[in-house]
Amino acid sequence: MPSPLRLDPVQETLLLTLYARALDSKAPHPILGDTRSAGLADRIAEDTGYDFAKLKLKPSLVTSTALRAKKLDDVIRGFVAAHPDAVVVDLGCGLDPRWARCAPPDGVDWYDIDFPEVIELRRRYLPDRTHLVAADVTEPGWSGTLPGDRPAVVVADGVLPFLPGDSFRTTLRRLTTRLRSGELALNGYTRFAAWAMKYHPSIKALGIAAAQGFDDPHEPEQWDAGLTFAEEQLLTRAPEVAAFPQPLRALTRLVARSTALSRQGTRVLRYRF
Ligand SMILES: C[S@@+](CC[C@H](N)C(=O)[O-])C[C@H]1O[C@@H](n2cnc3c(N)ncnc32)[C@H](O)[C@@H]1O
Repeated sequence: MPSPLRLDPVQETLLLTLYARALDSKAPHPILGDTRSAGLADRIAEDTGYDFAKLKLKPSLVTSTALRAKKLDDVIRGFVAAHPDAVVVDLGCGLDPRWARCAPPDGVDWYDIDFPEVIELRRRYLPDRTHLVAADVTEPGWSGTLPGDRPAVVVADGVLPFLPGDSFRTTLRRLTTRLRSGELALNGYTRFAAWAMKYHPSIKALGIAAAQGFDDPHEPEQWDAGLTFAEEQLLTRAPEVAAFPQPLRALTRLVARSTALSRQGTRVLRYRF
């Protein structure tokens, strides 16, 4: 008998990104090629009876999720290559097998943070060599468990819109106070993109009122978190767009001509602290 998953709608969004990576890995020209996510989605469907089809994933969500994951992986790979004693912090890790994709050197300590219900699932389905932290990332306390004296890279993939009010800022302030120096990498959402997300069929299917976003990539420099803007990648202009299915590829290339429109799509932002 399958035993159903017990996740609230925000936690359930991890199944959206998991399934997007799974579908990408089965595409004729995968962007991320994460077959581990595909195996995981199959196991979860079998064990719990979860109906991934209800998420109504469109090709645009599949490609954008896979592409941003790839670009964020690249940031981490670059950072741990330069700092083989680094600390990696994945905020709202969901069931992303990012550690396995990045295959960091042995001297790296990797922390996966998510709600207790999600961490319980990670223990069951992803027994990786990472430190699992069962916590609400916006709560104080858990960051005290991170080693503060080593270079650190903090990643937030698909998390920003779900954090209420200004809690992302306060979370970052705490983190950059605790961690000596390093980088923050995230997929940014403009205010419009975050607002519009709640009308996306997949987000609607989960009944979520997504809300957080910011427009100017320099804005986080004003958050008193010691962040300095380093890079904005507009993913409509990434070479991987060549692997998008049609007509999405043609549309993405059209949007790529405008910086303002590209910003409303997927972008990866990097900051130093
Ligand atoms: C869209 S999923 C992304 C998961 C993962 N990063 C990925 O790319 O597959 C959002 C994740 O953020 C987590 N999350 C949202 N708000 C959180 C919070 N306040 N504390 C901890 N985790 C949170 C959710 O539980 C979920 O796992």
